[in-house]
Amino acid sequence: MQKVRFVNPQKQYQDHKDEFIAAFDDVLSRGAIVMQKDLTEFEERFASFCGVKHAIGVNSGTSAIWLGLRAAGVKPGDDVLTVAHTFIATISEIYLIGAQPILLDVGYDYNMDVSLLEKALTPKTTAIEPVHLNGRLCDMEMLMDFAKRKGLLVVEDAAQALGASMRMADGMVKKAGSFGNAGAFSLYWAKAFGGWGNNGMLVTNDDTIADKARFMRYNGEDRQTRKFFYHSHNLLMDNLHAALLNVKMNYFPQWLERRRQIAARYQEGLAGIKQVQTPQWNDDRFTDIYTNYVIKAQRRDELKKYLDENSVETLISWPSPTYDEPLFTDPKLNAEYGGKPRLVAVSGDTDTLPETEKLCTEVISLPMYPELTDEEAGYVIEKVKEFYG
Ligand SMILES: Cc1ncc(COP(=O)(O)O)c(C=O)c1O
Repeated sequence: MQKVRFVNPQKQYQDHKDEFIAAFDDVLSRGAIVMQKDLTEFEERFASFCGVKHAIGVNSGTSAIWLGLRAAGVKPGDDVLTVAHTFIATISEIYLIGAQPILLDVGYDYNMDVSLLEKALTPKTTAIEPVHLNGRLCDMEMLMDFAKRKGLLVVEDAAQALGASMRMADGMVKKAGSFGNAGAFSLYWAKAFGGWGNNGMLVTNDDTIADKARFMRYNGEDRQTRKFFYHSHNLLMDNLHAALLNVKMNYFPQWLERRRQIAARYQEGLAGIKQVQTPQWNDDRFTDIYTNYVIKAQRRDELKKYLDENSVETLISWPSPTYDEPLFTDPKLNAEYGGKPRLVAVSGDTDTLPETEKLCTEVISLPMYPELTDEEAGYVIEKVKEFYG
């Protein structure tokens, strides 16, 4: 067996090469570089896919989070409730606004333990930033109910969850990004739906947030009047990227289907291994997209080494909690950012988050992308089985 790659952008490129080249040629032949019809078309298709009114193309998921928090109204001095078990951008963008994150422990599904919201709430809290990790929604029924009762903004970090959905108590099925005031997506190349490089998208149903975000994604400028209304950054998604993403959008529903098939195959193949826990939660309200197929595995580091030696690429996200990064532990940097963030677990305020820490020692992501063959998935299963004997 050749190496089973963790992701494989070359394969996707080869499968649709002519369409990508045609889109590239079309855009450059028209000289359609920024803010052109390809971007508008992509934004409309994206909004419609998520079931929201507005989509605003930006240059990364990180930018989308900053823009979402700012445009929704998070201000310096506010507290924002989020998780520690996430990519650092979730937390950094809160700091970069001058607000303070409060990090909650996670539950069985690796997402925010929403039962901790009450405990974490402070008089300065204005927003919740849930993360839909690995392509599974956080429990948005409970979270939105809490946010409404307390009058809090909700900005979803949906970086990993385009297309993930949840059936609400009223029977309505809602997709990631459509629950809160705004939702931020990463379209980084290795995500379930990514461009050829860094891209992102902010979505919202709120006209005021959408207008503000459209100004703020380009230096605070109203493109119509050429007047500047906000201090901001240049966060625009390039038109060429939008055109390439439009090609990919044609295939995304079938790619999602394939991801679910692979997940089902892994699920079945790994089911009998008692040292492994697959992401099977027995809650049919949720439909996951498996951006990452993450298992909990005993002797995780040894398993990773064994898979490496047997040509299976894997990834550990993440081997240590975000609050142990140098920016929090180095006294010089730590002082600059106002000290270690407050951590909230089931036991109350703590120095460490037990569930988050446990995940850091247990999780490992297996290869997952639509082009992965059944044979390759079968080989991965065989090698995991072999390891545990
Ligand atoms: C949960 C989460 N939030 C935010 C981001 C940042 O997105 P980007 O890399 O597109 O800036 C990522 C990307 O890895 C992510 O996984």
